[in-house]
Amino acid sequence: MERTLSIIKPDAVSRNLAGAILKMIQDAGLKVVAMKMIQLSKAEAEGFYAVHKERPFFGSLVDFMISGPVVVSILEGDDAIARYRKLMGATNPANAEEGTIRKIHALDIEKNSVHGSDAPETAAFETSYFFSKLEMVG
Ligand code: PPS
Repeated sequence: MERTLSIIKPDAVSRNLAGAILKMIQDAGLKVVAMKMIQLSKAEAEGFYAVHKERPFFGSLVDFMISGPVVVSILEGDDAIARYRKLMGATNPANAEEGTIRKIHALDIEKNSVHGSDAPETAAFETSYFFSKLEMVG
């Protein structure tokens, strides 16, 4: 069993797509073991994306991520990290495979609707960034 962090980003939450995206996640067999809706502060978003702070889009990404509420959750399953990345589709929705969350719902490379951890080490950092042990079931 593996756990990964999912964020439903402001572009999707503001378009009332959180339910549709969670249904895709659950239909894919991933189990939600923690979940909440939050408004990130600038410092919280900068801390979450610190690994990208030298990249040219960093400021724009942070501003986007604090533009409205996000739905953060922890997903559990066999190979959950890779399975969720596949379900999300490519970072740029123009390159995403048919049937993926980003192909169906994302607007562009920034407003790309979802985030998923990319490796076990980042999943451990990201899940504990948002949730305490007490907030996880199972
Ligand atoms: S990934 O998923 O880490 O392999 O993708 P990567 O290309 O490294 O992108 C890291 C995060 O930055 C976001 N991103 C952008 N935001 C705004 N503008 C541009 N041009 C851009 N390019 C990439 C991308 O959506 C990733 O966000 P998260 O939340 O990690 O999915």
